[in-house]
Amino acid sequence: MPEFFSYADFEAAAAAIREVTDIRPQVGLVLGSGLSPLAEHVEDSVSFGYQELPHFPASTVAGHVGQFVLGHLEDQPVAVMQGRVHYYEGYSMAQVTFPVRVMQVLGINRLIVTNAAGGLHPDFRVGDLMLITDHINLIGMAGLNPLRGPNVDELGPRFPDMSEPYDDTLCSLARRVAADEDLPLREGVYVCLAGPAYETPADVRFLRLIGAHAVGMSTVPEVTVARHGGTRVLGLSGITNVLPEEGEPAGETNHEEVLEAGKRLAPRLEALIRGMLRAE
Ligand code: HPA
Repeated sequence: MPEFFSYADFEAAAAAIREVTDIRPQVGLVLGSGLSPLAEHVEDSVSFGYQELPHFPASTVAGHVGQFVLGHLEDQPVAVMQGRVHYYEGYSMAQVTFPVRVMQVLGINRLIVTNAAGGLHPDFRVGDLMLITDHINLIGMAGLNPLRGPNVDELGPRFPDMSEPYDDTLCSLARRVAADEDLPLREGVYVCLAGPAYETPADVRFLRLIGAHAVGMSTVPEVTVARHGGTRVLGLSGITNVLPEEGEPAGETNHEEVLEAGKRLAPRLEALIRGMLRAE
């Protein structure tokens, strides 16, 4: 496995997909922990196990299926990552973001990323949907930026702008669709940590202090690569647990609770995403 991938590597995986299907996706979708049922509703679908595609990383975590699905949702051609891979599984950042690169080479112009996240904002409750308006790339500041290594000039510049990580127009559309569909929608800043250990009480205090409203172990690498390649992004977090506030008893966080809450969130997330695809 190379440390970094080149355009030819992305193209090899894209070519393997093009050989099997004529679908040319316009929208990419990344489905996080417990949020994968939407992929089962894709029409005219063609699915690839991650292990079938050149260079694709195979997912090792319960709740992450590991399929790349092409098809239609609300009449839009889509490419769906049913389950993503994470840095904590042992993959490099280049591997974590490889599928998004392939989506770009296949021609997407918009990426919808979803995740399960812990709520840091005191008003957030388990089951809330949060529109990600910005993120803190804490994992990148710590040296794990997926753009480290030779720049892929075919896709974007060495020093890409990150002033609008989440597209203003797509955010406005999400707000409108949520209001139309009667889906309460929170908003906030997502912070990405490497994991896999959940946060200590001091971590939680620190994350609140730096302005984060939700915390998770994904999304930011994919969004960084998406923006590098000029793809417009919409981000949605499902709040699957809430982190205790100062003075509250330190509740435990576990993966089962995260998956369970993700499952309960999935139908609302699907309604919001479908509404957005219909509106575009
Ligand atoms: N912390 C980090 N990642 C998470 C959490 C959390 O509380 N919940 C879901 N993903």
